[in-house]
Amino acid sequence: MNSKSVPVIDIQQLNNPETLYELDQACRHWGFFQITNHGISEIMLARLSGLMHEFFAQPAAKKRMISRSRENPWGFFDRELTKNTPDWKEVYDYGPADGELIQPQWPHDIPDFRHAVNDYFMACETLSYRLLAALSTNLGMSPDFLASGFGSEHSSFLRLNYYPVCPNPASPEGLENPDDGHLGVNQHTDAGALTLLLQDDQPGLEIFNDGRWHLVEPRRDALVINIGDIVQVWSNDTYRAALHRAVTNTERARYSIPFFFNPDYRTNYAPVPTMISDDHPAQYKKINWGEFRDQRHAGDYANYGEEVQISHYKISAT
Ligand code: OGA
Ligand code: NI
Repeated sequence: MNSKSVPVIDIQQLNNPETLYELDQACRHWGFFQITNHGISEIMLARLSGLMHEFFAQPAAKKRMISRSRENPWGFFDRELTKNTPDWKEVYDYGPADGELIQPQWPHDIPDFRHAVNDYFMACETLSYRLLAALSTNLGMSPDFLASGFGSEHSSFLRLNYYPVCPNPASPEGLENPDDGHLGVNQHTDAGALTLLLQDDQPGLEIFNDGRWHLVEPRRDALVINIGDIVQVWSNDTYRAALHRAVTNTERARYSIPFFFNPDYRTNYAPVPTMISDDHPAQYKKINWGEFRDQRHAGDYANYGEEVQISHYKISAT
């Protein structure tokens, strides 16, 4: 019945032609894959997971002392909307300081939290650059081509997701919104370049492919990688940023940690030259990441009507 499943790729030898081929196929057909032998130590992962449990186990009032705000995107949040529908989750977002207002906020009673988050953020950065170089090669460009939009001011961030036990889980069969009940995260694509996701052993992440939802089987030895809208644009639609969602359940809470690898806000992105031809002209206009991000963010706080999508930048066929 479930003959197709999300590819698992051993990246020990990431630049081998065989591995690059597997990666290319996964990006074409899924936009999602799991990686093993990724080089991030189990000890680092276990430490961060433990501290994340400790963080979310705190009383709500304590967590809200370090709430995210319109001015400062880093901190705790429990009222997120995806596609203008409330998600059944709590999050903690961490990103680097930027000026006086944008500052990470740390839980006062969990001293090790800060170090564990910082260490993992840096490990994800390193791994993301490796994946980006492989992607760049697969798109026919030099390995360092795509990295030029990142640099020291890339806008990546780390999110800790907590999906509490839910009395009425929803899981629509197709792309319709739930009539009642809740998803952990409603269906969406990630807006940035790459997402590296650490999930625990409670299943919940699903990907829409070939007309139905597929579960991403939790694996202790793997990280889940998905390409975001930016990679879809660079690849001129050869690769697809897949729709995904997280379902809730009545039995056990679920935790996950996505690292969103995003370029500098000043970066403009468009299909790369090697992916454009007479038969397949550029499908997108140039997009400024900062602008796109601002518009998308506005939708996270309130129902402002339709959320901005990458499709709004499509060049329509003539
Ligand atoms: C996200 C996301 C999935 C998960 O936070 O963007 O897709 O399994 N999370 O938590
Ligand atoms: Ni996502």
